Amino acid sequence: MKKTCAALEQNQLTFNSGYFDKILGLCCGNVIEEQIPGVDLEDTPEASFRNWENLVTKVIEESNYDLCDRTVSKACFYCPKLVSMESNRNEKINFINFFIYPSPCQSDCIYCGLRANGSFDMSDTEAINTMYSRVIALCNYLKENNKLDDNVVFQMASGEITIHPFKREILDMLGDMTTIFSSNCMKFDEEIAEKLRRNPQSKIDMSLDCGTSETWKIIKRRDNFQNVLENLEKYRKYTTEDDQLQLKYIVLPGVNTSDEDFDGIVKIMKLLNVPKLVLSRDFGDSSENRSDFVQGLKRLVKALVMNDLGWDGQPALFYEDIKMLEEYEISLKEIESNPVE
Ligand SMILES: C[S@@+](CC[C@H](N)C(=O)[O-])C[C@H]1O[C@@H](n2cnc3c(N)ncnc32)[C@H](O)[C@@H]1O
Ligand code: SF4
Ligand code: SF4
Repeated sequence: MKKTCAALEQNQLTFNSGYFDKILGLCCGNVIEEQIPGVDLEDTPEASFRNWENLVTKVIEESNYDLCDRTVSKACFYCPKLVSMESNRNEKINFINFFIYPSPCQSDCIYCGLRANGSFDMSDTEAINTMYSRVIALCNYLKENNKLDDNVVFQMASGEITIHPFKREILDMLGDMTTIFSSNCMKFDEEIAEKLRRNPQSKIDMSLDCGTSETWKIIKRRDNFQNVLENLEKYRKYTTEDDQLQLKYIVLPGVNTSDEDFDGIVKIMKLLNVPKLVLSRDFGDSSENRSDFVQGLKRLVKALVMNDLGWDGQPALFYEDIKMLEEYEISLKEIESNPVE
């Protein structure tokens, strides 16, 4: 049986924060340290797409190779996402991950390394203009040349789209295609709200990470919690489906694991009619706080379940943590339906 991964199966195209180098890839590679497979953008969209298609072909060809025989896919060798399974690859591109840097952001989240590593620095205007015009041209080429699946999903995670200098070009390119707008919601954008209204599969994906303004200030290093909640309420008015507003919680032991934060997030979810919380972890954290992290996760799940709210461990939590939380949820529900007298 061949080895494959979700990125290959979905025919996923990722525009990565490659600093002008090897920007075109398959996945965002947040599980491994090695340089993930990638190729450069070229002058024309046709040439860029050919580069990317050749890369995909090569990664598939190398999927069962030993490390020493791999040329473009050494990272895949170590990647836990590459597993043996029947392949049923989509012929067309199903997912586009728009994770391009430099891009601007007005926040300074404690877990996010992008500000510190210069990813918000837009000063190299000439190189940045060239890169973005090539990226947009490639996306338009894919649209116009029938390379995208009818159900293609765009993930927009290049800094903050609401203040992006290429917002006009990006939003025009997206049209009404299904898009997950990852945003800190520090700025409300009427045009994005209209896109949510016109396509009920499009959504806002927001890392709220807390339930109190005190913790917000510590995590985001900005004092605008109330304003952000108001913006979320404004977006909610444009949606028809509950899951068009997606809230995420990166569990940071000792930072956002107080009862006040858990009570707060429950209240906010009820207020905004968000039925389930996406649980996440800090990708940059090694495992020193492992048991505190697991305790934090369990207490958060308990707060959610006791309030008839749901949770989702995909795509960030480890498989064993998701399994553990599922069993924990069942045990909580059993205790609730058979209370001890
Ligand atoms: C890099 S941000 C860009 C989009 C937008 N600024 C936002 O915050 O949603 C995309 C996502 O990466 C997540 N992220 C950033 N650093 C992370 C880390 N160290 N661990 C886990 N997720 C992280 C954020 O929570 C956010 O949902
Ligand atoms: S690094 Fe992992 S997720 Fe990315 S293409 Fe290779 S196997 Fe797939
Ligand atoms: S809002 Fe997004 S891009 Fe900005 S600092 Fe936070 S995680 Fe990073």
